Amino acid sequence: MMQNKKFDEKKLIEAAQQAREFAHARYSNFRVGAALLSKDGRIITGSNVESSSYGLTICAERVALTKALSEGIEEFTAIAIVARDGAFTPPCGACRQLLFDYAPDIEVLLTDGKAFQKFKLKDLLPHAFDESNLGEK
Ligand code: THU
Repeated sequence: MMQNKKFDEKKLIEAAQQAREFAHARYSNFRVGAALLSKDGRIITGSNVESSSYGLTICAERVALTKALSEGIEEFTAIAIVARDGAFTPPCGACRQLLFDYAPDIEVLLTDGKAFQKFKLKDLLPHAFDESNLGEK
């Protein structure tokens, strides 16, 4: 689970904490921030954006990922995720899948506001579905 430090984990977590300030969580009140680190050192943030049509809500992690991809940033090292103080909040299943599709080798940093935990995304989505399952085109 824990690995050697290869990037500034504190900085990435702080970026996720700042992104959480921009959460639009008026229905659940569950505010989430995420910060994605690109291989060339850029940090792309996201927060959750909820809709009155609840199912249209977008998680913080997917906001960060789609922001990055749509700006031409394609290679990633890690993502930090911050939700409420005092609890580690792991990414939901949908976010795990989309992250796996575009950034299968990233590390996932979770913080409860004091300490942090670090996982490999691959360990959070064992036996994952991916493009290889689509068969030959
Ligand atoms: N949420 C995230 O932003 N990321 C997750 O991985 C889990 C859930 C958001 C979606 C919704 O706005 C709120 O948290 C409650 O589910």
